[in-house]
Formats: sequence, structure tokens, C-alpha cells
Amino acid sequence: MKSMRLDISRPDDWHVHLRDGEALGSVVGDTARQFARAIVMPNLKPPVTTVAQAEDYRRRILASLPADTHFQPLMTLYLTEATAVDEIARARASGTVFAVKYYPAGATTNSQAGVRDLARVYPVLEAMERHGLPLLMHGEVTDPDVDIFDRERVFIERHLIPLQARFPGLRMVLEHITTRAAVEFVSQAPAHVGATITAHHLLLNRNALFEGGIQPHHYCAPILKRETHRLALLDAATSGNPHFFLGTDSAPHVREAKEAACGCAGVYTAHAAIELYAEAFEQVDRLDRLEAFASFHGADFYGLARNSERLILERKPWIVPDAFPLAQSTCIPFRAGKSMPWSIVHGSGQPE
Ligand code: NCD
Ligand code: ZN
Repeated sequence: MKSMRLDISRPDDWHVHLRDGEALGSVVGDTARQFARAIVMPNLKPPVTTVAQAEDYRRRILASLPADTHFQPLMTLYLTEATAVDEIARARASGTVFAVKYYPAGATTNSQAGVRDLARVYPVLEAMERHGLPLLMHGEVTDPDVDIFDRERVFIERHLIPLQARFPGLRMVLEHITTRAAVEFVSQAPAHVGATITAHHLLLNRNALFEGGIQPHHYCAPILKRETHRLALLDAATSGNPHFFLGTDSAPHVREAKEAACGCAGVYTAHAAIELYAEAFEQVDRLDRLEAFASFHGADFYGLARNSERLILERKPWIVPDAFPLAQSTCIPFRAGKSMPWSIVHGSGQPE
């Protein structure tokens, strides 16, 4: 018989885009409602490259939180070829910055300031290894000669394996993994190498990009892959293996930026994140493993205390709105207008 109720420790989101300005105000409540903490991506315009900028951004996030939410943003720095080695010690000592994000220049939204040549940041990586500050990797090559569906696998072969050999003590998270190759790499790596997995990569394969016509709201980076890869991710997420933890990569864009001749990458899932993960885990009858993936493994990886509050889900359907406000426009959320089987009934940060 299907279980109807799920009582778990309050989860954390180890990879989210909260944006800034008006858009921040539009979306932060969705994340804060379900998650106790989140690793906040630094790909703003201009990017968040210093501890001082990260702390300013953190204050803007806290100021935008709806009343009655208890949420802690964990900040990250955007790695550039100009990042100062000293910034790493400052980050480590800050108590507010928890990681550094690597974007290959040109790989995704606001990644132009990212790294072109990893060798140029070796001194920074050496400092991160010494200080125990995790490197969060957007693991794709940007070489236009490499097929878009192979960019993660090729990144692992060309860059990640050599990087791990050069910096064996560097704490790393391969973000939003999408392939069997990534699952295999992370599974055999030491405990200080982890991976986040999104809800949309657990629920969709690449057919979802073209179902009945082109589907811009399913376009994200890294792009959705074949079913065999989705099954590998689902297996990893539900395995109980502590290398794998929840990271939504919820990435809101206004409707016009998605439904365009050259649309932006990013899927918005923050409005229904834990409910979507519950649905994925239920598909393989592994709801009993959701709590470890969503609430324990990430905290343990980052050396943070597990949350003590609870979150309760019930198998009670609800309909996702067709659109949400986003700054002066709207955002089309994942599953817009469709039914969701799981609902949060307690622990949402809303008054009881
Ligand atoms: C992200 C965004 O829009 O900021 N987009 C995405 O498709 N995931 C950037 C990123 O994480 O690659
Ligand atoms: Zn992201």
C-alpha cells in the first residue's frame, strides 16, 4: 500500500538561484517556506566575487524574507581568473561564505565572467584545498565541437579527473549531475567529493524538451539527458549513498526570456521542490530514503548540524498555478497548471 504521510527533518537546498532586486523578492519565499538553509548561487550581474559582496547580498536576501520564515542563506563566491588567493582565507573565516562556484566561461546564464583556463586558478584551488573550502562545479565543457549531450561526461574526463589528481584533498561538489558518468565518478570518489541532483533531472528525460513541440520551460543547463541517465540519477539519489544530496538548481527567468528565439536556460522548481522529490522517490518505492537525501547528506558534507524542525508531507493533490509573479513579469513554474500528488501539510514556515 502506498504511504500517505511522510514526516522528515526540514530539508536544505544545496544549490539554488535566488536572483536579486525585485526578482529576489518574488522567489525567496518559495525556498524559505520549505528549506531551512540553501547554498545560494553567485551568478548575479555583476557576479558575487568577494566576501564583502556576498555579505551585502546575504543582507538583501534576509531583508526580502517573508515574515514567519526561518531561513538561512549560505553564500558562495563566483570564481574568476582574477579571484585573489587571500579571498579564500577571508571566506573561510567569514562564517557566511560556505563555498566557491566554478562556472566554465560561457556554459550557462551569467557565466561570462567564469573561468576559461583552470590552470589560471590553481593558486586559488590550492588555498581552498588548504582551508577546506568546497569547490562547487558546473561540470560541462563549453567546446562547441563537443555534442551538448556529452559536455558533462567530457568535462569529467578532461578536467575533473586531472583536477582531482592534482588537488586530492580539495572538497568538491559536482553540481546538478545529469549523467551515468557523473554518478559513477562521484560514487567511487572519496567522501569529500559529492554531487547535487535536481528534481527535474529525476523526473524528466530529454523527450520532455520536444513533447508536442519545443518546450522552453524544460530547457536548463546541463540539458536533460536520455532515460538511461535519468534512471542512473534516480538510483543514486535513492541509494542512501551520502555522496548524493538535494540541490534544486531552481533558476527563475521571466516568461519572455524563456519563450524567445534564443531562450535562457533554467527551470523554476522552488514552488514545489520537496513535493517533486517525493514524487520521484515514490516512483521507485524509496520514500524511506528521501529524508537522508534531502535533510542529512548535504549538512553532513558541509559539516553543518542537521535541522531539528520537521516537515510533513501528505499524499494530497494540488494544482500548480499557471504562472507566478517575477519582478515586473511572470515566471512559468515547473508543472504549470498540472496536478502534484504530494503536499506540505506542516513545517512550511507559514503560521499554523
Ligand atoms: C542557471 C541560471 O539560470 O542561473 N540556469 C540553469 O539552467 N541551471 C545557471 C546554472 O546553474 O547553470
Ligand atoms: Zn545552478
